[in-house]
Amino acid sequence: MGTVLAVERIGKQYGKKGMVSKALHNIGFTVEKGEFVGIMGPSGSGKTTLLNCISTIDKVTSGSIYIKGQDITKLKAGKLEKFRRDELGFIFQDFNLLDTLTATENIAIALTIQGKKAGEIDRLIREMADKLEITDVLGKFPYQMSGGQKQRVAAVRAMVTNPSLILADEPTGALDSKSSTLLLDSFEKLNKDLQATILMVTHDAFTASYAHRILFIKDGTLYKELVRGNKTRKEFFHSIIDVVSKLGGDSNDVF
Ligand SMILES: Nc1ncnc2c1ncn2[C@@H]1O[C@H](COP(=O)(O)OP(=O)(O)OP(=O)(O)O)[C@@H](O)[C@H]1O
Ligand SMILES: [Mg+2]
Repeated sequence: MGTVLAVERIGKQYGKKGMVSKALHNIGFTVEKGEFVGIMGPSGSGKTTLLNCISTIDKVTSGSIYIKGQDITKLKAGKLEKFRRDELGFIFQDFNLLDTLTATENIAIALTIQGKKAGEIDRLIREMADKLEITDVLGKFPYQMSGGQKQRVAAVRAMVTNPSLILADEPTGALDSKSSTLLLDSFEKLNKDLQATILMVTHDAFTASYAHRILFIKDGTLYKELVRGNKTRKEFFHSIIDVVSKLGGDSNDVF
């Protein structure tokens, strides 16, 4: 199927001499096309830093990150922007929709920048909106939508360009359990139907249980990997809780 993401011995330090804090240390892993991978770890362990380095928002101090064979740590600003637009999709905890645009307009931006024709943009948005059940809010502005609807609009925006890699940081962090389930069901559907490759940071064991594999991060290093294999989601959920409690969390407020 091919490797979409290869992270090789990356390190990330913040600050200058004498005041250095190590956020990531010697992290390495790969993600294959069509995989749905979760990242968990205590607060401050480096999850967002890792995702930001992969998403090219932040820069590593050492090591390399290959996305579809391209070392993104070596890309110059101009190329980086195009690479990000064409190959990556982002979903944030707080949705990041533009308030003055409707759902359709928010979703259309990326396709317009890519130079797609109006008819095709319309068709792509309709198809994806139908999959994530947001057809009836397409004409609405963010303030007229629920949190769950906003996050599904953000998910359509991230996926409509058919990116090589979808990066999600706490996508269910601001959602109630019903909206979370709806969003995660749609991630699962897109992962299965379109072979979407998803890398998702989460605190929450229920959310994580949708992934095929979980990477646990502790103090900026890879602590453990848990593979779902043939387990049901419920069984996997319990395996996740076990690791989390060993890491020192408690099962309600995971981590
Ligand atoms: N811009 C920055 N400057 C200095 N230190 C930073 C910066 N961003 C993050 N850090 C530090 O790096 C470490 C990892 O932070 P990070 O945000 O990646 O944690 P996290 O695992 O996402 O935590 P949370 O679960 O609370 O979101 C922390 O110790 C944090 O204080
Ligand atoms: Mg974080």
